[in-house]
Amino acid sequence: MQHEKVIIIDFGGQYNQLIARRVREANVYCEVVPYRKATIDMIRSESPVGIIFTGGPKSVYKEDSPSVSKEIFELGIPVLGICYGAQLMAYLLGGEVATAPVSEYGKTETEFSAESVLFKNLPEKSITWMSHTDYIKSVPEGFSTTAHTPVCPTAAMENPEKKLYAVQFHPEVNHTENGFAMLKSFLYDVCGCHGDWTMERYAETAIAQLREKVGDKRVLLALSGGVDSSVCAALLSKAVGSQLTCIFVDHGFMRKNEGDEVEEAFADWEVNFVRVNAKDRFMAKLNGVSAPEQKRKIIGEEFIRVFEAEAKKIGHVEYLAQGTIYPDVIESGAGDAAVIKSHHNVGGLPDYVDFEEIIEPLRMLFKDEVRALGRTLGLSEKLVNRQPFPGPGLAIRIIGEITDERLRILQDADWVFRDELAKSGVDKDLSQFFAVLTTMRSVGVMGDGRTYDYTLALRAVTTQDFMTADFARIPYDVLERCSSRIINETSGINRVVYDITTKPPATIEWE
Ligand code: XMP
Repeated sequence: MQHEKVIIIDFGGQYNQLIARRVREANVYCEVVPYRKATIDMIRSESPVGIIFTGGPKSVYKEDSPSVSKEIFELGIPVLGICYGAQLMAYLLGGEVATAPVSEYGKTETEFSAESVLFKNLPEKSITWMSHTDYIKSVPEGFSTTAHTPVCPTAAMENPEKKLYAVQFHPEVNHTENGFAMLKSFLYDVCGCHGDWTMERYAETAIAQLREKVGDKRVLLALSGGVDSSVCAALLSKAVGSQLTCIFVDHGFMRKNEGDEVEEAFADWEVNFVRVNAKDRFMAKLNGVSAPEQKRKIIGEEFIRVFEAEAKKIGHVEYLAQGTIYPDVIESGAGDAAVIKSHHNVGGLPDYVDFEEIIEPLRMLFKDEVRALGRTLGLSEKLVNRQPFPGPGLAIRIIGEITDERLRILQDADWVFRDELAKSGVDKDLSQFFAVLTTMRSVGVMGDGRTYDYTLALRAVTTQDFMTADFARIPYDVLERCSSRIINETSGINRVVYDITTKPPATIEWE
């Protein structure tokens, strides 16, 4: 079944993915297309119900600026231009765009015309998020101005007859007070969308398509226990059942009980589930190794070896499934690379395994949609909400050499930390949290005796994108309970410290 589709033409703006997420939050399916690929033929063949132009860092009147064919406005498809997109619409249709006498950046009081379908039923004055140095000096013929700020005469313009709308501000950003309502008005009142993008419908469609594609062939999936590969497994299981084989390589560096939890999560699903307990192999390779990059490399390579050995037992499979998601697929309109970057959850596998084609059932979904799909398919909240976990696992949370004892200490301490944060309810506000076993030892006193044990570091961060991060302001009393429980309930640690470094300059993980 076909969904109504909106095409978002990407001119390299920093919020391009956010626009797409908002449109999907409004239950309308959309795809982000780099402006170079948005030809008239392509648009015609996709027959979208609406088009959105994103922002972008350039000036529309420069020769090499991102643009599209003017014909786009003659297709009868509604267009909403945002920021650069608004200026581009004005420019292409004969309006004037110039450097603004005063550039606007940040929260800006804006006055709207209630006559516009985009702003009807909204307050006449509200805050919008602005970020521009150029402005629309005069609107094209047939357009009227529908919003302004103290310094920007055209904060919005429209030609309702031609279904062309433009806003200088960013409705997709939360700082724009009624931005989501404005986007919804464009989608529902201008484009006439019905809101047919729901996870239930997506799941049905995706299952039917996978069934048709796979037919009676076989699919292999490397399951890590993370959200993406788990949801991928669940979707394929519903689609092709036991034609799917999931290989779960347990390298022994999962968190406490986690290997068993992954296995249990799929116990009732119709899949061939192969768990390979390969801890001994990994430990043998890591013996005496303490440099972080070397540890990572060894684990990555050994992972492939183990996977390969298991895959060989299965023999030839037609499809290798991967949990690639949409943010890995979107190619920025500003980027010069013509190839969409392909993200491999398990780097290098395709060279080693005997298969014909890769399938990526989640490649059109954002992370929050992957979680929603997981819920729809019946995966547990615990699995669906799992925080990011590095491929090499606890091996890179033990500084230096890994030993069985160190691994045991870290697993125990990390479990207590997670348990205490969950009990105090603090975990909901955190993006990621974990314990790190610094292998530094220091002197302490317990009872009447001297101790000489390890120092454990606690790390908890908040972040949107994991590229930058802030350390979480966990209340002292919660930290105190964590520290006291860790020392009482695990042996081998006599000191607990809290990492108060942001990223940058530190990274989230310690190795
Ligand atoms: P850093 O330490 O670079 O981590 O600030 C950023 C995010 O990436 C996660 N991470 C990994 N994820 N394989 C992964 O799948 C890895 O090798 C890996 N190393 C770091 C990290 O947990 C954080 O969320």
